[in-house]
Amino acid sequence: MDFLNDPRFSGITPFDGRIWLSSPTMHGDEQRFVDEAIRTNWVSTVGANINEIENEIAQYIGCQYAVALSSGTAALHVATKLAAEKLYGQARPEQGSLAGRKVFCSDVTFDASVNPVAYEDGEAVFIDTERDSWNMDPVALEKAFEMYPDVKLIVLAHLYGTPGKMEEIRKIAEKHGALIVEDAAESLGAKYKLDGEWIETGNLADYGCISFNGNKIITGSSGGMFLTNSIEDANKVKKWSTQSRENAPWYQHEEIGYNYRISNIVAGIIRGQLPHLDTHIAQKKKIWERYKEGLKDLPISMNPWDEEKVQPNFWLSCMLINEDALAPHVRSDKEEIWHHVSGKSSPGEILAALSAFHAEGRPLWKPMHMQPIYQMNKFITVDGNGRARSNAYIESEVTDVGADLFRRGLCLPSDNKMTEHQQDIVIDIIHRCFK
Ligand SMILES: Cc1ncc(COP(=O)(O)O)c(C=O)c1O
Repeated sequence: MDFLNDPRFSGITPFDGRIWLSSPTMHGDEQRFVDEAIRTNWVSTVGANINEIENEIAQYIGCQYAVALSSGTAALHVATKLAAEKLYGQARPEQGSLAGRKVFCSDVTFDASVNPVAYEDGEAVFIDTERDSWNMDPVALEKAFEMYPDVKLIVLAHLYGTPGKMEEIRKIAEKHGALIVEDAAESLGAKYKLDGEWIETGNLADYGCISFNGNKIITGSSGGMFLTNSIEDANKVKKWSTQSRENAPWYQHEEIGYNYRISNIVAGIIRGQLPHLDTHIAQKKKIWERYKEGLKDLPISMNPWDEEKVQPNFWLSCMLINEDALAPHVRSDKEEIWHHVSGKSSPGEILAALSAFHAEGRPLWKPMHMQPIYQMNKFITVDGNGRARSNAYIESEVTDVGADLFRRGLCLPSDNKMTEHQQDIVIDIIHRCFK
């Protein structure tokens, strides 16, 4: 569709440059800390920037130890492996520590949350999503434990910066003696009220992971951290992340190692960003609130959160089109076709319109159980097995919250450098999609 010449969009001109989904916001001190590292020749995986960010993050999160790594994915890998070794012991070098084991995983998330289960030869079992925060559904999780009572590990993510139902999930985990790896890559600075106390995401489970990827709420261009309250776990992750050297005069190895430690240069960028985390969160919250207000007359809802129990970091603002206002669209594995119907719209149409005017949105995460790589993995909903539930001879409804969110939802431009005027134009474009 030629949006620029469509009368529905008359009077709107493309943005100069681009309105990003979520791009890095630098403040100046990042350069100073990077320069300092180069001037003093600490251009390595040790140095003052690394020490500083580990201390500052541990203090901010309220956990005992933070170990800075090359990415959130690396943090998730070591966290998953650490949990696996705690549960099942050290594996042979050519075998993953989860070989032959199932792990209950968030379904609607980025695949980096769950891939470490496969790195360790485990089988991810995907747990459907609830509608209150778009995270792992505790009811479906309990169902999964009924079906597979031997499972001892849960990997869950807090989507788009909104904490999941941790109180319920922690109780279920405790009941079944399971450990939890918490993927807080998107939710740094988000809080959850547990027993009347606000706790940071990343400190709500046995092992926490955060990311400083370029699109996150603060960034180092890359980088991540493993968070823990155990000195043994922190030391083990430091050892694994620097090639697992034993205490010997030569390179002696008794377990598999990784090159996962962060660079002191990248840590310098993060060090410069840290004082601005709370400002970024406040800016992102305002963006979410302006969308909520500006879109309130449309047949949509925003990504939800429970004011009593959570303080999101509002990393991405998202919207969900009401079922009766969803225009026809179909998606194959790699393409989609949508059709405009007056008074309705679809994620594809809105994303294409935004793109035509140089604004970046994104579909919601495609659920893991729908991904070709994981299509044969088990998927558990509130009704039990989420696969093979329809019957050619009996009319029935099939519950699949993740698929429904993916079908009707999208992430909106959420860059904290977007001006109010620019956001108003984005809001206007979305309105015109429904004309
Ligand atoms: C939910 C989630 N988990 C994990 C990651 C991986 O983090 P990284 O890119 O730092 O490896 C990301 C983002 O990139 C993410 O959004």
